[in-house]
Amino acid sequence: MTDMHNQAAAVSERVERRWATVAVLIIVFLAGMAAFAGIHNATMPQTSVETIDPTTIHLAGEFIESNLGSAIEADGSVTVRAIGQQYSFSPPCIVVPAATPITFRATSADVVHGFLIQGTNINTMLVPGYISIQKASFAAPGDHLMPCQEFCSVGHEGMWARVKVVDKQQFLSEMADKRRLSCAP
Ligand code: CUA
Repeated sequence: MTDMHNQAAAVSERVERRWATVAVLIIVFLAGMAAFAGIHNATMPQTSVETIDPTTIHLAGEFIESNLGSAIEADGSVTVRAIGQQYSFSPPCIVVPAATPITFRATSADVVHGFLIQGTNINTMLVPGYISIQKASFAAPGDHLMPCQEFCSVGHEGMWARVKVVDKQQFLSEMADKRRLSCAP
């Protein structure tokens, strides 16, 4: 009787240890994934938080009308600045070159909107008061839809923009005499 009892105790201890190990491994894996995403700036919201006053973005600073769209940086990369507001994006058509490092810098003028480019893993939120930063690169030219993916009230489903990825040479020649570029009509 005691023998059986001891045997049962040994078995249950072994099983418990095995499951405890599995649970610890899952926690270590999840913590590792969170650390990896953080290091690669792939978390939402980003760990590097920049703030902005949503009530004055149209009047002064980085997100005034003339500063929206795509700009070439000294290192050859492209920075795209955009605003989401009920119920549109400015600019409504974003143009970027293929095979080039792109940094999207965007914010909201009113409520929370979504910033998602279909066919890519670009997906973040535009939160009033914060600048959302997403780094990306498009392998090939093509057209993408950019629908708002956060419910932002009655006009939500009509809120979307276009992203045109064009050949790098074409982008550079269209950009030649401009400070900012977009494909808005
Ligand atoms: Cu903006 Cu939904």
